[in-house]
Amino acid sequence: MAQNKQITLDNIASAVGVSCSTVSRVLTGQSKKYRISDKTRELVQETARELGYFPDQLARGLRTKRTNTIGLIIPDISNPFFSTIARNIEIQARKTGCSTVLSDSQEDTQLEIESVQLLQSRKVDGLIICPVGEEHSHLERIISSGLPLVIVDRYFKNLDCAFVVSDNYQGAVEAVEYFFSMNHRSIGYIQGRVNTSVNIERIRGFRDAYSKQGIPVDESLIVGDSFGKRNGYIGAKMLLSKSPRPTAIFAASNLISLGAMSAIQEEGLKIPEDISIISFDEQPYSEYLATPMTTVAQQTSETGEIAFKLLHAQIHQDGEQSKEGIVLPTELVFRKSVKKLNHPTSE
Ligand code: RIB
Repeated sequence: MAQNKQITLDNIASAVGVSCSTVSRVLTGQSKKYRISDKTRELVQETARELGYFPDQLARGLRTKRTNTIGLIIPDISNPFFSTIARNIEIQARKTGCSTVLSDSQEDTQLEIESVQLLQSRKVDGLIICPVGEEHSHLERIISSGLPLVIVDRYFKNLDCAFVVSDNYQGAVEAVEYFFSMNHRSIGYIQGRVNTSVNIERIRGFRDAYSKQGIPVDESLIVGDSFGKRNGYIGAKMLLSKSPRPTAIFAASNLISLGAMSAIQEEGLKIPEDISIISFDEQPYSEYLATPMTTVAQQTSETGEIAFKLLHAQIHQDGEQSKEGIVLPTELVFRKSVKKLNHPTSE
């Protein structure tokens, strides 16, 4: 079978009539540094395109010990929260000539571990991981190996590495305080994956907002155990079956609120007439819903951009493991899914 003929720098140099080093300097973005004229630069680039040249990453990797590739592991590519982060990481990586290999851990820690091993075997220059968020011994092994690593979203306080997260605590406090300002006191909380940092921080905010008002939390109104839609559906069904029914629901994530809305509709109830709701996570569809959703928006685009820049800095400091942690504020986006009750009561 015919082998793909690898076009070399020599082929381009001969075609243009310049030295191999000139071709190499042009194709590695060093024209200005070596004062190569625009005319020569454009001629070399055009000839490389015409001949179908592409750099031999394997050979370059052996020489430079870099593959210009990063690994990215996220729990659910179909979730707009993670896909927005992934997209912004890829956009930033491409700007630096770096490619991104993406792996979906399907909210499964074992798959996350396997993805880490696969990406390390591909000799990626660094890893950005949005962890499933319950175990971190495999992440400690990455740090011990010296491979640059940035953690995003669900993080571990005692993990000695760079991270980019939201201020989940303050986001939850502001949402519950808004419910109180609208005279809601009986608020059902559908939580996410229980032992993850984001869930721990959000429920801490929920509880502290209550205690600031001197009101005890009704523990029977805290339900749920995962960030998925099904958890939202079941949690809402449980809350709506209580008597008296809570006047509001705080959904701990985008998919949870989707499931909760499905249950509310199935029960023949209307938002916000019969039940008010706030969702953690802004979504592309939030404002287009039959009742535009009030949300706690995370800065997903900025999260992706910052995560890549932190990783890039580690890679190009020859593996200097920056321990910088960045916490981004959330924003309460007011829309129409919360009704003001006539007076502070559960009905
Ligand atoms: O399903 C998305 C949710 O899980 C988001 O709230 C995000 O913080 C992630 O942890």
